[in-house]
Amino acid sequence: MKNDTAAIILAAGKGTRMKSTMPKVLHCIANEPMITHVLRACDEISSDNIIVVIGEGMDTLKNTVAPARTIVQTSQNGTGDAAKSARDALGDFDGSVFILLGDVPLIKTETLQALKDASLQTGLAVLGFETNAPHGYGRLVVEDDKSVSAIVEEKDCTDEQRAINICNSGAFCVDGKKLFTWLDRIENNNAQGEYYLTDIVSIARQDGVQCSAVITNETEVMGINARHQLAQAEGILQTQLRAQAMSNGVTMIDPNTVYLSVDTNLGNDVIIEPHVYFGTHVSVESGTRIRAFSHLEKCSVGQHSEIGPFARIRPQSKIGNHVSVGNFIEVNRSELKDGAKSKHISYLGDAVIGSKTNIGAGTIIANYDGFTKHTSHIGEGVFVGSNSTIISPITIDDGAIIAAGSIITENVDKDALAIARAAQSNLDGWAIEYREKKQNEKNV
Ligand code: UD1
Ligand code: MG
Repeated sequence: MKNDTAAIILAAGKGTRMKSTMPKVLHCIANEPMITHVLRACDEISSDNIIVVIGEGMDTLKNTVAPARTIVQTSQNGTGDAAKSARDALGDFDGSVFILLGDVPLIKTETLQALKDASLQTGLAVLGFETNAPHGYGRLVVEDDKSVSAIVEEKDCTDEQRAINICNSGAFCVDGKKLFTWLDRIENNNAQGEYYLTDIVSIARQDGVQCSAVITNETEVMGINARHQLAQAEGILQTQLRAQAMSNGVTMIDPNTVYLSVDTNLGNDVIIEPHVYFGTHVSVESGTRIRAFSHLEKCSVGQHSEIGPFARIRPQSKIGNHVSVGNFIEVNRSELKDGAKSKHISYLGDAVIGSKTNIGAGTIIANYDGFTKHTSHIGEGVFVGSNSTIISPITIDDGAIIAAGSIITENVDKDALAIARAAQSNLDGWAIEYREKKQNEKNV
């Protein structure tokens, strides 16, 4: 099925309304660029033949969409011109061609399939949506027989057309045999002086081809032109991701305060307390509780562990089963093996911490000497007393005890006690003499 379908995704626009130095379609929703969302939706239908139209100098965008092919639209003369620039890349392809907009990121594969089915009937189909807020969108002129006779951009609408509430999502599916004969006839005599892709509807009609419309939900096809729409799309996707996680058996005490990435992977019976943020590539296995105000990214957490409140788990960290990472703990590029505990205000960077080891409050693993990061290995069943600093690289062997307040600069053997702090001396009665002396000085 894939060989009979191609997709052209338009992404060359500067996105001026975003007021950004970055191409619009690289702005993220649920921590993934908009364009990647669109590519994923296409992937199942036309993965072998996807062409992304980009602007000059958009190298990051080119790398982001790879292995999809890119072609450069040299000047941004409108969506019709952008689609036309894919001509050479498509060659003599004569199957169904999707034309999609890179700034409509929440579109779903099933909808694309329905659009393709409709276009196979007539040769041309557009994806529309009904809305109470049509502002900024092209309007579909729908005839009594339900065919679309024209799409009119808002700036070119008559008052009567502006009142239409069926809008253009920007997604088309077109018979590849006819596509370029229609695109070649688009002109730019309109309010913006651009070549509008939307004109292919009336052009096809002149050839006796009626455009059919597939109507979908407005939340699926909202276009992102400005930052407030980016935030709105984020809200829509977060709601979907949370619902999906909960249907997989995750408890969220206050779902609206939990932020997920597209690829967040949460096992069943995971409990997420309010105000938790999941960056990309996080997996949490079943029965684990993520307590309030925790921040996790690029890490994995095993089963029946407890993270937070106020924990930060940074990239390349691996937390095992039955691990306890408490409040104000930062874990960075470190592994905590099964049953390890670090419950209060600590920094664990570039370390491997063995199973059942207990890291006392205020422990710092000093992994950076200003030039290089060093790794420390702490074995199984080790007890690190509070307020210790471990100057990496250090190996502390199984069962060792580190006395509180130690600064560890040498390796510690198995089952040894390491004390590395100044010895205490108590001077009897010293405080009384001191106070008398000070009081006398004050009385003079
Ligand atoms: C477009 C549609 C409008 C539709 C809306 C849906 C046209 C003329 N208008 O308007 O009917 O309701 O999307 O969101 O098609 N692009 C290029 N090259 C260009 C111009 C644009 O590649 O020369 C790309 C942009 O990068 C963007 C997409 O095409 O990803 C849409 O362009 P945009 O300027 O956002 O069009 P809208 O005004 O939103
Ligand atoms: Mg747009």
